[in-house]
Order: sequence, then C-alpha cells, then structure tokens
Amino acid sequence: MNKQSIKKLSLFLTGLEQRIAENRDYFKKAVAVFKSGTREFPAKIWIEGDKIKLNFNGTTEILETNWISLRISKYAENYDSVVITYEERGTTIVIEADDKNVKMKTSEAKEPEENIGVHNETYQISNRDYYIKAGQAQELLKEIGILGSNGKVKNDKIRKYNQIDHFVELIDDMIKDLLKENESITVLDCGCGKSYLTFVLNYYIKEVLKKPCYFIGLDYSNTVIEASKRTAENLGYKNMEFKVTDIKNYRASREIHLVICLHACNTATDEAIALAVNNNVKAMVMVPCCQQEILKQYSYPPFQDIIKHGILKARMADVITDGIRALLLEAMGYKVSVVEYISPVETPKNLMIRAIKTQAKDPLALERYRELKKLLGINPTLEKLLYID
Ligand SMILES: C[S@@+](CC[C@H](N)C(=O)[O-])C[C@H]1O[C@@H](n2cnc3c(N)ncnc32)[C@H](O)[C@@H]1O
Repeated sequence: MNKQSIKKLSLFLTGLEQRIAENRDYFKKAVAVFKSGTREFPAKIWIEGDKIKLNFNGTTEILETNWISLRISKYAENYDSVVITYEERGTTIVIEADDKNVKMKTSEAKEPEENIGVHNETYQISNRDYYIKAGQAQELLKEIGILGSNGKVKNDKIRKYNQIDHFVELIDDMIKDLLKENESITVLDCGCGKSYLTFVLNYYIKEVLKKPCYFIGLDYSNTVIEASKRTAENLGYKNMEFKVTDIKNYRASREIHLVICLHACNTATDEAIALAVNNNVKAMVMVPCCQQEILKQYSYPPFQDIIKHGILKARMADVITDGIRALLLEAMGYKVSVVEYISPVETPKNLMIRAIKTQAKDPLALERYRELKKLLGINPTLEKLLYID
C-alpha cells in the first residue's frame, strides 16, 4: 500500500488504540485481513489476562496498546489492501484500506423489532421501554438464559426478564446519583447465586450508561460461584470477582458504593445490611427472603385474637422484620424507602428496601427501635451485627 494510505490508516488505528485503552472491558477482538492479489493473510488482536496479544503468520507476540497502530500499518506496507474489523460489545468498527481509499464505518447493535410482543397466557412482554433491551443485550440475555437461540425472550423466562428489568428501573435513580458523586462505582452482590443481577446491572452501567463499574459477588455455595465465574468469562466481563464466603465473614478490600441482596434467605439480608452499614456504604437495595427469627420471638397481647391464627402471625412477623430493618437503618443515618418490587401474585417475597446514607446517626430512631424491641419481646440479629456505638 502507498505511503499516503498507510499514513491515514495509522491515524485511524491510533483512534482504535485509544478506544481499546479506554474501553478495555468492552473490547472483544480485532481482526485484520491483509490481501495480496487473491491471497488473504489474517492477523488477530485480543486480550488475555492483562496482556494484549497479536497473532500473525503463525507467531503470537505481546503488545503494548500503543504499538497496535505501528505494527498493523507496518504489515500493511507489504500488502495491496487490508480490512480491519474491530469488535467491542455493542459496537463494530470496520476499516477498509487500499491504495485509493481508507474508510472507517461504525455500527451499533440495534433493537430488532421481532423481540417485542412475545407473550404467553400468564406473562407478557409489556409495552414499556425496557432498560435492558432484548435486541441490544442479546449476548448477555442469551448467556443468562432469558433469550433463546432465535433471539426471542423464552416464554418461561418472561417473568424473570420483567423482574430483572423492573429491578433496574427501581434503582436507576440511585445508580445515577452514585455516578454523579463517583467516577466509578463498586457494587457488592450478597448471596449472588448465579449472579444474574450482577451481570444485568453491569451491562446497564457499563453499556447503557457508559460508566465504569466493578462488581463483587458473594455466596457460600461454591457451585454458584463457579457458575458465575464461567458466565463472566463467557461474556468477557473482566471487571468482576466472585468469592465463596458467608456474607458475615466478608471483609471489604476496596470502597463499596452499593450493596444489593436479592432473596437471600433468613438472616442473610441482615448480614448484608450490617456489612453495608459497618463499611459506611452509601446505598443499598435489599429484597428480603423468608426470615424465621422474629416469628419465633415476638408476642403482642393487644393483637392476640389476630395472631392466634398462624398465617396472620407469620405475615405480621414479616412486616415487623422489615419494619425493624428500616427503623434500624434510619437510626444509622440512612433515608429508607420500602416499595413493592413485584406483584404479590408472583411471590410474597416482594418488598424492596432501598436505603441511602444521608445523615449522621439518629438517636431518636434508635430509642424508638429499643422501645419497640421491648414491647414485642424480640432480639433481632441485625442489631447484634451493627456497630451501633
Ligand atoms: C434464592 S438465592 C438468590 C440468588 C440471587 N440473589 C438471585 O436473586 O438470583 C439465595 C442465595 O443466597 C446464598 N446465601 C444465603 N445465605 C447466605 C449467606 N449467609 N452467605 C452467603 N450466601 C448466602 C445462597 O447460597 C443462594 O445462592
């Protein structure tokens, strides 16, 4: 290729170098196909661990990001033309260069129309504007089993898809506020299971909001942690780590901005709340699961004719449990809102507790909590886990 084209090509490639440096976590691979007559000679660039690698003509070398332009344009000097296809999540850039012309085309993933309107008898894809759009998040949603290989939401996953998307909707403002105050945010997913929420939130923050973030998933089940690691690897997400640990034993090694905990059983939600409060975490979102502790402890004579019915006693215990959590969070300086996360028709575990640290500890709220505790004869784990004074 002539000097003029090489010069222009190296300029475009410098742009790609910058893109890789800035979007390292999005970068998938770049393939350059050099042509000489009808013969083709492919070169591939990819990231392995913390290294950028280039394979060409049977040899693999490790590259600094800012050598890419130099290497590729040097190789191009010996060929008639080159087509470079750069892939990062959601975007493909193609550079075509020969002696006459050097042009670059960028294409973004689009939402295919046919993903809308899938339904079965019970659950429907609603008409609302999804935060995680099935067409754009195809790779993610396929990997976590929401989309089938045809790119459509599977009938038995519509409910899950709606739940996940609604979760993002309910914490969207909180995430945006955290991003206003911080360059990058770290999210801790307690009792992460297979980490669907982590993957979806990571997608939303990185690829929809285009902001940097880091995720840590905790679960005491080795099986789900291994599954989460595999999913992260398959999706090429490098900004996350997964640890086998009980929530209460975890010691944070970096600043955490948001703690999430969805349907972690019994007192695991209390452990997650305590972890957040004790580490001075700014925001948390809890969707509690069943909790037996308060049910076994509480009594309230004025209500004896009501709570003599087991089911009513259990429902009241759930309300007290979450009410106590909210009150203790207020005592620790958090502004709390309790909202319905999903319809009670889908699951009775449908409350979401959102809390944001806004003020100093509130001694009056603590006093009210202590009165309530005495009145009900309860001794909640959460209080024992919190560093109250
Ligand atoms: C019902 S699953 C929910 C998983 C995930 N959060 C989701 O919503 O898909 C609850 C998970 O919490 C984990 N878990 C429960 N208590 C825990 C604890 N104290 N420490 C760590 N993991 C816990 C379980 O192993 C399980 O994977």
